Amino acid sequence: MIGDWLDIGALAEIPARGARTIAVAGGEEIAVFRTGDDRVFALVNRCPHKHGPLSQGIVHGHAVACPLHNWRISLETGHALGEDKGCTPTIPVRVDAGRVLIARMAALATAMAA
Ligand code: FES
Repeated sequence: MIGDWLDIGALAEIPARGARTIAVAGGEEIAVFRTGDDRVFALVNRCPHKHGPLSQGIVHGHAVACPLHNWRISLETGHALGEDKGCTPTIPVRVDAGRVLIARMAALATAMAA
């Protein structure tokens, strides 16, 4: 159905192994990551440890290292890896004809939870 997905820009605008952020209502942000193998993942931009901005972390494979205390968060599940415990919500995301689309309802739910 038209309108289920929100076009947030071109894949080429996200640096490889980097991220861009999307502000949603309520002050929350969504971080959209592009990995070295050109996969795209979206998470709430908040580390499950002490709310570090994951978008500013370093992407290794399909995980990001939080810039504050270096927890590694899976981009696929949002779960902390290794000994650490916690989870950041993920948002469905896909790429269509070079455009990055995030699920509108999940983005709205993120805003409502803020
Ligand atoms: S806030 Fe992310 S590791 Fe501490």
